[in-house]
Amino acid sequence: MSEESLQEMLETAKAARLRSIAPFSSFLVGAAVKTDEGKVFIGCNIESASYGLTVCAERVAIWKALSEGERNFTELAIVADTETLTPPCGTCRQIIWEFAKNATIVLGNLRGETQIVSIRELLPRAFDARFLNAAKEDREKKESA
Ligand code: THU
Repeated sequence: MSEESLQEMLETAKAARLRSIAPFSSFLVGAAVKTDEGKVFIGCNIESASYGLTVCAERVAIWKALSEGERNFTELAIVADTETLTPPCGTCRQIIWEFAKNATIVLGNLRGETQIVSIRELLPRAFDARFLNAAKEDREKKESA
């Protein structure tokens, strides 16, 4: 992944941000995720009047890509209008861990400040299907003993 590609992804996420539907928070976020074949899917946050149903920009982008059959992601850009760069929320970190673990994550704001982060640093000691599988194996061992 090149510096140029990350810059392009930030621009794409910045444009996606303008599609945000955020009448309650007025906090607009854009995201763009790139597949290993170079396809880009964008997302913006979409808020519901039932606040808890709101979906973040990152998840919208990732759901769109997954539902189109994509499984391998190399880059994820996230843009918001904050001085301190906005990182993905806890829920999105979990989803990034499960579905876009290998993506280089680049955060950006409207002043052109950027930072690269990894999901490993954002979500140490993550929970995932390995724990479910290990527990299942344990149960099966006990049952067959
Ligand atoms: N939001 C995102 O879309 N991504 C983030 O990384 C942080 C939060 C959205 C959710 C909600 O619409 C608004 O920002 C305020 O929390």
